[in-house]
Amino acid sequence: MLQDHIKFQEYIDKCVKAFEDSTLIKISFVNPYIKSDLLSVNGRSVDLKKGKHLQLVYRHKTKDITKNYPSDQIKIVINQMILEQFSQSVLYTAEADYHFSIFNKSKVKLTTKSASLKSSITNHNRQKNSWINTKDPVWNLLGVCDENGEVYKTKHPKFRQITKYGELIEPHLKAFKKSEKIAIADVGCGKAYLSFALYQKLKDKDIAQDFTGVEIRKDLVEKLNGVCKNLHLENIRFKTGTIEDAQFAKLDILVALHACDTATDDAIKLGIESNAKLIVCSPCCHKQVRKALTTHAMTKNITSHGILKERYAEILTDSIRALVLEAHGYSTKVVEFISTEHTSKNLLIIAEKKKSAKDIDQSIMEEIKVLMKDFGISSHYLVESLGLVDGVANNGRE
Ligand SMILES: C[S@@+](CC[C@H](N)C(=O)[O-])C[C@H]1O[C@@H](n2cnc3c(N)ncnc32)[C@H](O)[C@@H]1O
Repeated sequence: MLQDHIKFQEYIDKCVKAFEDSTLIKISFVNPYIKSDLLSVNGRSVDLKKGKHLQLVYRHKTKDITKNYPSDQIKIVINQMILEQFSQSVLYTAEADYHFSIFNKSKVKLTTKSASLKSSITNHNRQKNSWINTKDPVWNLLGVCDENGEVYKTKHPKFRQITKYGELIEPHLKAFKKSEKIAIADVGCGKAYLSFALYQKLKDKDIAQDFTGVEIRKDLVEKLNGVCKNLHLENIRFKTGTIEDAQFAKLDILVALHACDTATDDAIKLGIESNAKLIVCSPCCHKQVRKALTTHAMTKNITSHGILKERYAEILTDSIRALVLEAHGYSTKVVEFISTEHTSKNLLIIAEKKKSAKDIDQSIMEEIKVLMKDFGISSHYLVESLGLVDGVANNGRE
């Protein structure tokens, strides 16, 4: 029998109220009465299809078990948790933290401390508000989310990246009319997270589309086509093949994220030659230009350190890619899409076709020539593969 039942009731009421008015950030139960492999329980509020629930994660020595409770069961569950299982509980709300404990079997202590957890927006809610609808079953089939649309911890960095890509691409979708069916290709699509995010977004916007993912790995392609079939998704397919060999009768948007080294150049070439209205690529490693840097009096002090040479080559590679796109009538911007804390491969080149440039802008080609000459670049794969080499290559000074 508790000595101060009122305090106990006060704590239970606070928990229920915090859940009901959505100020509950977290609730924890620790210090079990009986030693077992159940160590603690942590809870938070989640929005499920069936409405708001209290989600409790039961932490055992070797496993975690998650259970969701509807609002009418919360009082009973918290009661049981405190009276039968754990002698301490903390309720974290947006306003304050409430520490409740039972000691000497019957004495009760309830203290209020200033709020230690800042945000009342749960991770779940953040995902709900993000660019991607994580509740779409595709994310569960792809292994990104659980069946409640909760992004798996290990997928958080990739998820953040894809969300950011989506946010950066979205303003450029305005250029497409709803009346026209747009042809999109994600080349070197890998597990196709961005493909599906973009496909979903266009579907939400009622923009008719024809989506193709190109990937060299047959196993991935089979899996992705299986997901499409399973969900009866229309106008989306994945093909096994290389970016170099990919061909499209019509291509409006070309996406290539983290295609290795010159595969990014192949993707840009594909976009330019297909006259894509929008080309979005995020370069990966930059080996080709690095190897093509000649020893040069002006730059030798930059290139004498491996890491600086690598960064220098990256900047030169992408500057020339942007210029090549400009020369072909694209308005190009190069942006950093996510903090370097997550990945160092964090540049995004976004090129929107502004002019139906039949002829390549020769003044820009001159600028490329000068840049290559002055910075000692003997060759640039994109420049060469587009046949723009005349007077450009082999200009590096020894
Ligand atoms: C680093 S992953 C990036 C995947 C995805 N685009 C992303 O950003 O999450 C690069 C993918 O491109 C594929 N790939 C590499 N070279 C390729 C090529 N030449 N043609 C087609 N796919 C290629 C790889 O198999 C891999 O799945």
